[in-house]
Amino acid sequence: MQDQYERKIEYVRISLTDRCNLRCRYCMPEAGVAKMRHEDILTFAEILRIVQTLAALGVKKVRLTGGEPLVRRNIVELIHAIRQIPGIEQVVLTTNGVLLSAMGADLVRAGLTGLNISLDTLQPETFAEITRRPLFAQVQAGVEKMLSSGLRNIKFNCVPIYEVNDGEIPALAELAKDYPVKVRYIELMPIGCAYEVGYRGVPMAEVQARLEKTYGRLRPVGKKADPLQGPAEYYRLAGFAGQVGFIDAMEHKFCATCNRVRLTAEGFLKLCLNQKNGLNLRELLRNGISDDNLKLALRQAIYRKPAEHLFTDSENTARDSRAMYQVGG
Ligand code: 5AD
Ligand code: SF4
Repeated sequence: MQDQYERKIEYVRISLTDRCNLRCRYCMPEAGVAKMRHEDILTFAEILRIVQTLAALGVKKVRLTGGEPLVRRNIVELIHAIRQIPGIEQVVLTTNGVLLSAMGADLVRAGLTGLNISLDTLQPETFAEITRRPLFAQVQAGVEKMLSSGLRNIKFNCVPIYEVNDGEIPALAELAKDYPVKVRYIELMPIGCAYEVGYRGVPMAEVQARLEKTYGRLRPVGKKADPLQGPAEYYRLAGFAGQVGFIDAMEHKFCATCNRVRLTAEGFLKLCLNQKNGLNLRELLRNGISDDNLKLALRQAIYRKPAEHLFTDSENTARDSRAMYQVGG
C-alpha cells in the first residue's frame, strides 16, 4: 500500500525482544536497563497475525531484529512460519553474531533469505571495549560459518567512531574484497546513549575518502537492483567481490524513499524510526479485534506515516525516546 506521500510500504522490521547478550556502549548502559515484561511482549501467534495482515496490504519483506533476536526462544520456528505466509518474499535477520556459530545452520534451513551482522571491529580488544563483552572469537566463528553456508545476501553493519574503530575503516571493507557480501558503514545516530558516552561518529564523506585513499575510486552501483532495498548507497571497488555501502543517517535524504514500518517487541507499530506516533497493536489484538478491522487500522496508520525523521530538528516534539534496542534499528 501507499502512504500519504505516495511511498510504497513493502517492508516491516519486527523487534522480537529488547534483551541482548552484548552491551554496546552506544546502544545500552551496562546496568539499570528497564526490561520489557514478558507478558507485554507479543507472542509468535500475535506476530504472525500482524504479518499476515501486513502481507495482505502489500508488505513483502520482514526483518527480525532486537535487541538481539537470536536470544528469543524458538526463533527458527518463527522464521519458518513467516516464510509460509503468502506474499512474503524475504525474511531476513539483523544479529550481533554471537549466536551464529550455534544457530546459523538452523536459520538457513528454516528459510532465512538474508542476514545482517553487526560488526564494528575485527580486533578482540576493541570488540570488548565497544560491546563490554569479550566475545569476539565467538562472533568470528559465526561469521566464518555464515560466509561458507551458501547463504546469499549477507551484509555487515559497521558504525565508525572516532578514536574507537575509525582506524579499521579500510580493514572492515576487506570482507567485501574476499566475499560477495556488502560492508555497510552507518553514521552514528543520536539514539539511545550514543552521544552521552562521548562517542563521535565519523561522517560518511570522511569514511568514503578514507576508503578511496586505500582502495582507489568508489564506483556507484545503479539503484533499483532490489526494490525492497534499504537506505544504503552502494559502491564497487576495483578487485572486490562484494560492495561497500553507506547509510548517511543524519541528512534526511532517505526519508523520501522510505519503504518501511516498524513493530516493537511490545506490539507498537512505529511509522518512523525517530517519531513516537504509531499504533498500539497489542491492545487491539488482545481486545479481540476482527481481521477486517485489524486490516483497516493498519491501513489507516500506515497512511499517516510522517514525511521525515527530524533527527536534526531540536524542536521536534514528536521525537521518540525509545532506544535502538527497544526499536530494532
Ligand atoms: N547509531 C547508529 N547505529 C546504531 N546501532 C545501534 N545504535 C546505533 C546508533 N545510535 C546499530 C548497531 C547495529 C544496528 C542494529 O544498529 O550497530 O548494527
Ligand atoms: Fe545489543 Fe545491538 Fe545494542 Fe549492541 S547495538 S547492545 S548488539 S542491541
